[in-house]
Amino acid sequence: MLIDRHGRKINYLRLAVTDRCNLRCFYCMPEEGIDWLSRQELMSYEEMLQISSVLVGMGVEKIRITGGEPFVRKDFMPFLTDLSKLNGLQQLTLTTNGVLTAPFVPELKKIGVSSVNLSLDTLDRQRFLDITRRDELPSVLGTLEALLKYDIEVKINAVVMEGRNTEDILPLVELTRDLPVSVRFIEEMPFNGGSHQASLSWDHVQILEAIKYKHAAIQKLPDPLYSTSYNYQIPGYKGTVGIIAAYTRSFCGTCNRIRLTPQGDLKTCLYGNSVLNVKDLMRADTTLNGLETALREAVSKKEANGWEAEKNVVGLPILNASMATIGG
Ligand code: GTP
Ligand code: 5AD
Ligand code: SF4
Repeated sequence: MLIDRHGRKINYLRLAVTDRCNLRCFYCMPEEGIDWLSRQELMSYEEMLQISSVLVGMGVEKIRITGGEPFVRKDFMPFLTDLSKLNGLQQLTLTTNGVLTAPFVPELKKIGVSSVNLSLDTLDRQRFLDITRRDELPSVLGTLEALLKYDIEVKINAVVMEGRNTEDILPLVELTRDLPVSVRFIEEMPFNGGSHQASLSWDHVQILEAIKYKHAAIQKLPDPLYSTSYNYQIPGYKGTVGIIAAYTRSFCGTCNRIRLTPQGDLKTCLYGNSVLNVKDLMRADTTLNGLETALREAVSKKEANGWEAEKNVVGLPILNASMATIGG
């Protein structure tokens, strides 16, 4: 079991398989993209399988694949299939933008992916183009349809941004009337590759107010222990609504996560720097001797409250990395 020095059990790995993406969400990266990693800098699939296997052996039960966009990496599906066979792994999930995902949905179902988080900030084609700089809304909606058809649990992630998609809050909530999905509204975080100033004007309180304006009867649901979202439901609706206070609230107290970036940096917190590069370690000693000890030591030092540590004078953390290099 992996336990940090604050007594938190670490059983959830967020593994970012690439920093590349086929969208250019303005809150994540600039139009020209970011300084993409070279192939040599990336962890190979073999290395990712090795490190995942070691971590599962040490108590990781859930792996969420993130990016960039996982499906832009070549041969992603065979890798995922291999990963799904790891002994001891209880839950394999992914976060995707849904542009290339639809054709793979039957296979996802087959290998046991029971839940997918889909990034979708608007249901309006023009606003989708304005936000992501690509005209791909129809493909994303195709993915949503396929996931529902194959009975895979769907959480829709919508980052709320002043002047960009606040008029989408209610239409997105309306999806939960007939569809068994969780629509989660996320506070924008300043992880955007330095491309723009996050407005940060929509916090979780304001988002809830906007929903209550139309749905005064919305009910609070109990939140699962490790939930990133505060969860709600409109009486009579099939789906649920979540609000992720990603920026104004710290999840640190119950944090059970570690992250691996595409270049193999182990991050014990969304904020803060890498504590260990596992790729370098694996390339230096292919017998993997010492890997487990190094991992245990790095994880034990997980920050008690990384969010607090990053707070700047204004009172909230300010960061300029792109979410695509961290994996969200
Ligand atoms: P599950 O709990 O596994 O369903 O997923 P999730 O909600 O953590 O993951 P997802 O990839 O869908 O991320 C949703 C939003 O939560 C993104 O904006 C993430 O950046 C944010 N998020 C995820 N983990 C953390 C965290 O540890 N701290 C903060 N502040 N935000 C996080
Ligand atoms: N602030 C909040 N959420 C973000 N995401 C990407 N960049 C940001 C940001 N700056 C979200 C994406 C995706 C999830 C992994 O992170 O919408 O759903
Ligand atoms: Fe791509 Fe996700 Fe970043 Fe958008 S937020 S550019 S979909 S990695």
